[in-house]
Amino acid sequence: MKKLIAFATVCSCVFAAVYITSCNNSTDTSKETDKVKDSLAKAVENGQYLANHVAACIHCHSKRDFNKFSGPVVPGTEGGGGGLFDHTILDAIPGTIYSPNITPDTETGIGSWTDEEILRAITQGINKKGDTLFPIMPYANYNRMAKEDLLNIIAYLRTLKPIKNTVPARQLMIPISMAYPAPALQASVDNNKRPERSDAVKWGEYLITIADCATCHTPFVKGQPDFAQLYGGGNVFNVANFHVGSANITPDSSGIGNWDEDQFLNKFTLYREEKNYNHNPGLKNTTMPLVDYSGMKDSDLKALYAYLRTVKPVTKYVVKYPGIKVNTVKMGEIKVSK
Ligand code: HEC
Ligand code: HEC
Repeated sequence: MKKLIAFATVCSCVFAAVYITSCNNSTDTSKETDKVKDSLAKAVENGQYLANHVAACIHCHSKRDFNKFSGPVVPGTEGGGGGLFDHTILDAIPGTIYSPNITPDTETGIGSWTDEEILRAITQGINKKGDTLFPIMPYANYNRMAKEDLLNIIAYLRTLKPIKNTVPARQLMIPISMAYPAPALQASVDNNKRPERSDAVKWGEYLITIADCATCHTPFVKGQPDFAQLYGGGNVFNVANFHVGSANITPDSSGIGNWDEDQFLNKFTLYREEKNYNHNPGLKNTTMPLVDYSGMKDSDLKALYAYLRTVKPVTKYVVKYPGIKVNTVKMGEIKVSK
């Protein structure tokens, strides 16, 4: 925000100076100023959209209320961090990791980080201190995001309300390099471009990468995702008092092969209405951030559907509500703020 304000201030000073010295040019210059303001507003709006409704940055980096359907973000905690991913979430997490505070608070958040430092954390998984981030933070996916989208997200993060919240340091029992193979990363995101929106399948592939639907929807076998069953589902999450298996979302009849586009859209758009999630569904809850995703544009949801029609069908019947605790995946205790 500081940068944006500084930028806007510079522009309005330039405008004032030009206005005083040459009234003739004032209309042109004011149009220029409006254009700059417009493009900044558009950048923040796109960043807001991606961070809240597609990449779900805010979902992971806030407190979530699992006394409501799909654990919506607790209002007022946006970006403040503190979501706990504990060592039992996956065999591959050897310790306890909290989502950090990514609000512009200078002491406890990322207010003092430069854009380059934030970009490096998001796309290379290296934070300001030089520590490698645990890949529960999907930086390998963001490494393939268009640079413009990444910068828009950063511009948006700077507009978040600063929250003073010190998040406990992560505790890993073994060095991160031993715990998880380093993901393949491009050294720079400079050449990443958005695909054409008119190509629904390509656009859907781009969105599904940013949203990282694959991590939850690809079964982990011995602590590693089994890519032969990409989007085949079957990971069981144990959250507080409910247990839910991730669905098979491939176009097989045991997956969502029989779903039409409307059914698919409904899965998400239902939660645009508060009455549909503002209750405790007890055992039939989900970890899929549906309230966050419900804000996705219909055209984007249609693109996700179009892409998912093209993935390899995996025959696999998943029990959504096993009813019992299954120790494959365990979401850490999610602390609900009172
Ligand atoms: C699935 C949950 C999840 C999602 C989605 C997610 N993050 Fe993270 N993020 C984390 C966790 C957990 C860490 C801490 C990892 C560690 O300490 O090893 C982290 C670390 C970070 C850091 C480093 C902060 C620091 O103080 O070291 C930044 C910046 C960040 N995330 C920004 C983002 C942005 C921006 C997005 C969306 C584009 C995003 N995150 C999406 C979970 C997530
Ligand atoms: C945090 C984990 C998580 C993420 C991220 C996630 N899902 Fe899910 N998803 C689940 C779980 C668990 C279920 C089963 C419970 C339910 O229906 O909500 C599910 C169910 C679904 C279903 C319903 C299928 C059925 O047979 O009922 C669809 C469709 C779906 N997910 C698509 C997606 C897409 C597309 C994305 C990315 C935009 C995504 N999911 C991201 C965990 C996740």
